[in-house]
Amino acid sequence: MSQDLNDDGYVLSRTPREYERLRVQAERWAPFTDQVLARAGLGSGMSVLDAGCGPGEVMRLMGRRVGQDGVVTGVDIDPEVGAYGLKRLQGEEACNFNFHTADLLSGETVPGAPFDMVFCRFLLIHMDDPIAMVRRLAALTRPGGVLVAMDYVIAAALVAPPDPVLVRGIEIMNLTLAAAGRSLDAGARLASWFREAGLPMPHGTDLHGKMVVTYPDLQLAEGVAGFGPKAVRLGVATEEEIAALPDRIRAVAARGEHCYHSPTVGAAWTWVGNPATA
Ligand SMILES: C[S@@+](CC[C@H](N)C(=O)[O-])C[C@H]1O[C@@H](n2cnc3c(N)ncnc32)[C@H](O)[C@@H]1O
Repeated sequence: MSQDLNDDGYVLSRTPREYERLRVQAERWAPFTDQVLARAGLGSGMSVLDAGCGPGEVMRLMGRRVGQDGVVTGVDIDPEVGAYGLKRLQGEEACNFNFHTADLLSGETVPGAPFDMVFCRFLLIHMDDPIAMVRRLAALTRPGGVLVAMDYVIAAALVAPPDPVLVRGIEIMNLTLAAAGRSLDAGARLASWFREAGLPMPHGTDLHGKMVVTYPDLQLAEGVAGFGPKAVRLGVATEEEIAALPDRIRAVAARGEHCYHSPTVGAAWTWVGNPATA
């Protein structure tokens, strides 16, 4: 499925370069994600699902928490990103990892369900109907288990001092998501999506931000490359602009004269069913 344009509406590319960008992005959010997993109650011996696992870096954190008596299952609609992640994990970590290729919205059961914890990060923002996905994830969580979601508040992104090339990079990502009908404030809407899906309001929430000097950070340039084909398809940018912009961003970023204030990440977790049965 290595391709630039996706029939399932996913706005990012499915290429080795984009898988690597996701992996590097995951490193940035690893400490916060691990803190959320701990606060949401992930512990030794549990079974946990990473929904839309991508290259599997959250599965790595989960594996360290559940240990060798636990099981970590990843599901992604893209078999190649799963294979890319699983190979690394099995070589580097001592835990029971499984990966299954599936469209989580299809309603098919996932081997190992129901799980003690179901988790998704940067998945709901890519959904036409995030509430339908929350319902589906709740159905995969055992009664008394916990559903955890983390997502971006994209509107928080900015660069200081403003530079036209860097600002255009941010704009292309925002406009592409908006043109695809995605919620730019996904991370702030998690609680309301839980509620609309019939779940209780979260019993835990958090929010985290990052600000980095643009050198040696490459996320903005790589992000534009990842969003590029869909940005062209949706009329947000021309092919010529997308071909040139990542290198132009890299050149400005290399000066190390700017700070990139990344989109912030919101987190929320809630019980599914009655916590008394946990
Ligand atoms: C932006 S990536 C995030 C990956 C990972 N969760 C992380 O935080 O690094 C979103 C992932 O969700 C997957 N995805 C999108 N729609 C899906 C669906 N309907 N069922 C399963 N996976 C899906 C994509 O293929 C992609 O790998």
